[in-house]
Amino acid sequence: MPGQSCCSNHASPSRTTHTAVVGLQWGDEGKGKIVDVLTARHDVIVRYNGGANAGHTVVAEGQKYALHLIPSGILYPDKTCVIGNGTVVDPEKVLEEMEKLRSRGIRVDGRNLLISDRAHVVMPWHKDQDAALEEYLSGVTAGQRGSLAIGTTRRGIGPAYSDKVRRSTAIRMRDLLDPAYLRERMHVICRLRTAELEALGVAVAPLDPDAMAARYTEIGQRLAPHVTDTVYFLHDSIAAGRSLLFEGANAALLDIDHGTYPYVTSSNCSALGIPAGTGVPGGNVGRVLGIMKAYSTRVGGGPFPTELLDDTGNRIRERGREYGTTTGRPRRCGWLDLVAVRYSSMLCGATGIACTLFDVLAGFDELKICVAYRRPDGSMTDRFVPDARGLEGYEPVYETLPGWPETALPASDRAALPGNAQAYLARIEQHLGIPIEMVGIGPDRSQTLVRQPAACC
Ligand code: GDP
Ligand code: IMO
Ligand code: MG
Repeated sequence: MPGQSCCSNHASPSRTTHTAVVGLQWGDEGKGKIVDVLTARHDVIVRYNGGANAGHTVVAEGQKYALHLIPSGILYPDKTCVIGNGTVVDPEKVLEEMEKLRSRGIRVDGRNLLISDRAHVVMPWHKDQDAALEEYLSGVTAGQRGSLAIGTTRRGIGPAYSDKVRRSTAIRMRDLLDPAYLRERMHVICRLRTAELEALGVAVAPLDPDAMAARYTEIGQRLAPHVTDTVYFLHDSIAAGRSLLFEGANAALLDIDHGTYPYVTSSNCSALGIPAGTGVPGGNVGRVLGIMKAYSTRVGGGPFPTELLDDTGNRIRERGREYGTTTGRPRRCGWLDLVAVRYSSMLCGATGIACTLFDVLAGFDELKICVAYRRPDGSMTDRFVPDARGLEGYEPVYETLPGWPETALPASDRAALPGNAQAYLARIEQHLGIPIEMVGIGPDRSQTLVRQPAACC
């Protein structure tokens, strides 16, 4: 119950537990599914970073939902979902997502979906800029490193956050509710943007500021019931004893400050983004659940020390159906990299781990986990290097563990798993020094093995 201590595992019995769900790898760890599972025991579900670059899949009662901007908690009609100030919102995409959900009988209205009036708006030119820059860079190579393109989702994320930092050419959600101000800004921005797009080699008809202002004023009117000061809403919720669940998008190794730069996204997607992206001080987050696949994947460019470019990699991709939720791109696959996960757990302050897609590893004779790296000079390290060039030439050092043949895993508890499967999980816990609280054995919300303290909150 909101406002009550849920169990004796928490230090302060009178404090409501607020939880964060963050990806510990390069995205697509199954955050959406775990948020969906945890929503049952929280009141307010909050996105703090990113935009429609995220693709969170939830499978509930045989129905599959792909969410991009709207928090995965939306499937519960009695919860409030918040798109926080640290996100970048593509308003047309969010309207489309709302309509799709409504057409499937999901409640979405101005009371259960709130959007920060300070969130920045992704405009059509941001997507054009994103695509144009990627096209341009894909033709530019840097020695053996290949193309300089990041491999973005082309959802306009980088250009929208660039405008946020640049300030003078940014548009925030609240601006969509002020037609005169919006029109004034469009006149300046459209002129500048047309010139910038032309410089990138994009042949565009000059952007029409009046048409653009009219289109986004209309969009603003449709979104007006949702747009509010979410910072006060969240603090009021905390004061009222409601529990918050922070839903990370993207993942820690894609964090703009702490990921494999420059092959990262443009926001703080580790747990470090929560305070700035919601206005809720980090000290309020008592539980940080790091989401980790039982192996590794990555979409787009950038270093990936344990990548498997062979049949084993293909086998993991097919068994895990590793194709992007947002772009449909095949994901790069490899063995579990515990050097990387130890680093991201440290960064996020993970108090527990959810090990997802565990079922995908069934049927392999043996499994490898990367426990250290060999540097190009032959020396060993157990430290990650959050920089693409810095990681160049690093080779994984593996520990090999026996696999298990059973493909049908019992959906009861971890103790019922095959012995080698239990040993794999135990070895990960030893290396990380963090308990695995949940194990995903299938995409459905019911296919989750939970053990204390996760069972109670
Ligand atoms: P997110 O971006 O972190 O929310 O992850 P995605 O939804 O992009 O990708 C995870 C994929 O794995 C989705 O298709 C999920 O339905 C699926 N999934 C999540 N957990 C499990 C699991 O434990 N087992 C299997 N087989 N699939 C899972
Ligand atoms: P979820 O929330 C996987 C990757 C892109 C690209 C880089 C930058 O579903 O885990 P961007 O469009 O953000 O500028 O792209 O980051 N990327 C993701 N990869 N899952 C995601 O989100 C991602 N969000 C961004 O593939 O390499
Ligand atoms: Mg995803």
